[in-house]
Amino acid sequence: MAVRDEKTCPWPFMCMLEGNAMPREQLTRPLPATEVDHARLFRLDGNKYVVLGAGGGIGEHVTRTIVGLGGRVLGADIDAEALAGVAGSVGMPSVVADATTESGMKLVAEAARAEFGTINGYIDVIGQMHRRGIAEYSLADWDLDFRTNLGHAFFSALVLAPLVEHGSIVHVSSVVASRGGLTAPGYGPAKAALQVWVKQLAAEHGSRGVRVNAVAPGLFLSPRYVAAGRSTADSRAHASRPLLGRLGQPHEIAAAIVFLLTPAAGYITGTTIPVEGGALSRDATGIDGP
Ligand SMILES: NC(=O)c1ccc[n+]([C@@H]2O[C@H](COP(=O)([O-])OP(=O)(O)OC[C@H]3O[C@@H](n4cnc5c(N)ncnc54)[C@H](O)[C@@H]3O)[C@@H](O)[C@H]2O)c1
Repeated sequence: MAVRDEKTCPWPFMCMLEGNAMPREQLTRPLPATEVDHARLFRLDGNKYVVLGAGGGIGEHVTRTIVGLGGRVLGADIDAEALAGVAGSVGMPSVVADATTESGMKLVAEAARAEFGTINGYIDVIGQMHRRGIAEYSLADWDLDFRTNLGHAFFSALVLAPLVEHGSIVHVSSVVASRGGLTAPGYGPAKAALQVWVKQLAAEHGSRGVRVNAVAPGLFLSPRYVAAGRSTADSRAHASRPLLGRLGQPHEIAAAIVFLLTPAAGYITGTTIPVEGGALSRDATGIDGP
């Protein structure tokens, strides 16, 4: 796995594993099946990532999944105590920072450069739904929604993306990005903008072998969802929407995110993958009843 020089790489697949990108001249012919190390398509051995929001919820699961697949992580989070717990448990370096500010993201980039030099990508799970009826919704609410759900995507593109050598960047959107709703008027528009931002970054970085994607979760049993203390009736109603008849487990969205980091996802860029237990495929006409 020490092969980095594209000109001398004897086994293209090993070059691909190192950076999720193959030398262009070797892509003009189909790779013989015998040259592909299929057993390593889903591995991240030796790769280095930054996880924004590594201290809990989906970010903690992403961190543990990357480490489980042989990768290394620098974890960043605004919650020092939570981050220290995860960092101690998986043995990763960490940095306390607010990812929605330019100064916070610069701190993260400096830590990544000091720890790894270059990275194979970053995963940005930051985001939050902010509930308020549209009648009470103000410009300040709109600004807050766009800062909370997009500020980190913008700042990370400025200071973390240049550190990515080949590899993969993943943001977390939401299925709400393609639907209208009554409770959080700015969350869906901000997440929809995030999905187009992913396309902009994919266009910008594709030619140097950097892929950029998002996942769009349905409802997951994350700590925040559980802490909201919903009624049994509400929880049942939420669980009845996905075709699988249950809410998602956080490790199931983390697994989709980490798949996008692996060589197995080497030809996926500029897109958003829904992970929602089939909720978006439910009958939309009402013919199946409520
Ligand atoms: N949980 C769901 O059902 C669901 C559904 C759709 C979309 N999402 C999206 O998934 C993402 C993660 O959701 P979650 O429930 O795991 O979130 P979470 O609230 O558990 O946050 C994950 C981590 O991010 C950290 N964090 C929050 N703000 C930060 C900041 N400004 N700087 C640095 N760290 C910060 C938190 O401290 C926490 O450790 C969000 O973008 C959310 O919009 C979640």
